[in-house]
Amino acid sequence: MTEAQLKDLLTQMTTEEKVGQLLQLATPFFKGASDRGEITGPMENMNINEEDIKHTGSVLGASGARETINIQKTHLEENRLGIPLLFMSDIIHGFKTIFPVPLAIGCSWDIELAEKSAAVAAKEAAASGVHVTFAPMVDLSRDPRWGRVMESTGEDPHLNSQFARAFVRGFQGDLDNDAHKVASCVKHFAAYGAPEGGRDYNTVDMSEWMLRENYLPAYKAALEEGCEMVMTAFNILNGIPATGNESLMRGILREEWGFDGVLISDWGAVKELIPHGVAEDQKQAAELALKAGVDIEMMTSCYTNHVQELIEEGSLEESTLDEGVLRILQLKNKLGLFDNPHRFASEEDEKKYILSPEHRRASRELAAKSIVLLKNEDVLPLNAEKKVALVGPFASNTDILGPWSWGGSAEDTVTVETGLNQQLKDLAVAKGTDLRDGNEEDLKAALQTAEQADVVVVALGEHSDWSGEAGCLADIRLPEVQLDLLKKMKQLGKPVVAVLFNGRPLDLREVTEHADAVVEAWYPGTEGGNAVADILLGKVNPSAKLSMSMPYSVGQVPVYYNSYSTGRPKDAPDAQERYVSQYLDIPNEPLFPFGYGLSYSQFEYGELQLSADRMTKEDTLTVTVDVTNVSDIPGEEVVQLYVRDNVGQVVRPTKELKDFRKVALQPGHTETVTFQITEPQLRYYHANMEHTSDPGEFTVFVGTNSQDVKAKRFRLE
Ligand code: BGC
Repeated sequence: MTEAQLKDLLTQMTTEEKVGQLLQLATPFFKGASDRGEITGPMENMNINEEDIKHTGSVLGASGARETINIQKTHLEENRLGIPLLFMSDIIHGFKTIFPVPLAIGCSWDIELAEKSAAVAAKEAAASGVHVTFAPMVDLSRDPRWGRVMESTGEDPHLNSQFARAFVRGFQGDLDNDAHKVASCVKHFAAYGAPEGGRDYNTVDMSEWMLRENYLPAYKAALEEGCEMVMTAFNILNGIPATGNESLMRGILREEWGFDGVLISDWGAVKELIPHGVAEDQKQAAELALKAGVDIEMMTSCYTNHVQELIEEGSLEESTLDEGVLRILQLKNKLGLFDNPHRFASEEDEKKYILSPEHRRASRELAAKSIVLLKNEDVLPLNAEKKVALVGPFASNTDILGPWSWGGSAEDTVTVETGLNQQLKDLAVAKGTDLRDGNEEDLKAALQTAEQADVVVVALGEHSDWSGEAGCLADIRLPEVQLDLLKKMKQLGKPVVAVLFNGRPLDLREVTEHADAVVEAWYPGTEGGNAVADILLGKVNPSAKLSMSMPYSVGQVPVYYNSYSTGRPKDAPDAQERYVSQYLDIPNEPLFPFGYGLSYSQFEYGELQLSADRMTKEDTLTVTVDVTNVSDIPGEEVVQLYVRDNVGQVVRPTKELKDFRKVALQPGHTETVTFQITEPQLRYYHANMEHTSDPGEFTVFVGTNSQDVKAKRFRLE
């Protein structure tokens, strides 16, 4: 359809039909759905009827070609103007072929593979009838108590922005209607990742300076990449719930950034303006959200029940409604739905693409590249000839897909046991304990199994329900029974390898103390067991680096590498013993810093070279460093470039990641790694929110992680 035809369609719509486009309902509400269940109750609760459903604009969570085709067909038979439905779903880290959770993908620092993972997810989802995915989630987070840290790529604005772009390219590309792509919806705007105390849905309060410096860049990056949609956040931001926050949505998002796509509320977030205490009732909630620029209301019906009335009484302009409806029609048109309402939905293609060997290979590759080696005292890689005991609650557990993998299934998941069995000659397995509860019998069986072995692999972790939405924890240590199992294994005097499956950075002090090697596998996805075996046996040399600091203890939280200078830094040459910024009982530094991760290779960094010791705003400064693989194993190293603005008008972080390169090095080989620094990279938000640089001295750091770096200074003139 042309733009003129779309506008003409809008003029033919009644107010009721228009308001219907702003409603998103879950699958069971629709007549063509295979399981309508007990839908009368929810309909009554929402005060909607079958007539409202006929006008509804979009569906949440439907998938499967047959299902989506049926729903669409039935809907089109009943919708007066034949306006097709949009099918939206949470395809976060894979559809049926599940990839590692996004936090793990963040640790791969592999932008290309991240893009590929999203492309695979899009292909499977598109064939199954999905049009829009509620991804990427790019909420920067510094608090591992928050369960949703597993959904974002970590704590750094630069790295998160790179991944945000990659995911949008992978899911959506240029939304070419000949390719199996789905539209992207970046979420949750804004700053959902900073709830007080790490408790989900809780208050977010931060200065505009902090917001712009750290939290906004990744959303903006996704939009610059062409992301079609944005989802609001549940939280309040500086006193106003994001979903009714006009200055955030109309101000920053639409006016400042020029976003003219569809803005959707998070699940129920419009109605939540009432418990937040900014709206008296559903009518006022509708008014606030629509005026703030929220187009689609997900799973509550404040718009459906009140927008017409608000217009009739003159509290709302009809043009505000029309604006939102037009954006939704434009998206439907862009997706080609007026020409082909079923788009790529095809049972035949589902069979062809879903869990295809190619998709499984991509998942296995990325999983292995996301696994972080945290400690290794001459134990790994394992010798395939040795007798290995595999114990722990994750030994044969299929719960390694992580939250947001509703399309994945246990039958398709490769466990650690299955993966190791493919690559080891002599493997014996005993779980030893459940996740939180153990018994003597299981423990005894595990001890007996381990006694016969040369090496013990202990697979520990968190149930996937312990992270994800509403999966917050105040204690981020592994449960006592699991730590006990590890200690008992260590007491046998054999080499012990701990492999961890979890959705957040944990306090791993006890784990690192009682294991000779520690492997952070996160939730690695469908091919998880194979990927873990690839790493343990050295088929793949670990190359992942933490994209979020691993705290020493929960008492440090929030702990992040790009922290600001205090007036009393602990490491100042003239620092006093007591009156410095420190804890008396624990170090300031995390247990493992941002950017940290070991390899089976050894890399050596040469001296840092700068092309000049000063630069003008027009210059490019070249930074080079020789990196040598001094081991006899080929490996990959993520070389990281950080900058510090030594004196700014506003206090600057002690280090900020500006760039990185992943280099593959054969034994004995050296690569000269080159970075370029230009003035725009040195800009930051000043007190008046201007994004400019200050002349003066900077320090550039290059290294293998955010702490272990070489440094040199230069001046910007
Ligand atoms: C989550 C969103 C998700 C939505 C739809 C909400 O509870 O916060 O991230 O996209 O549900 O499933």
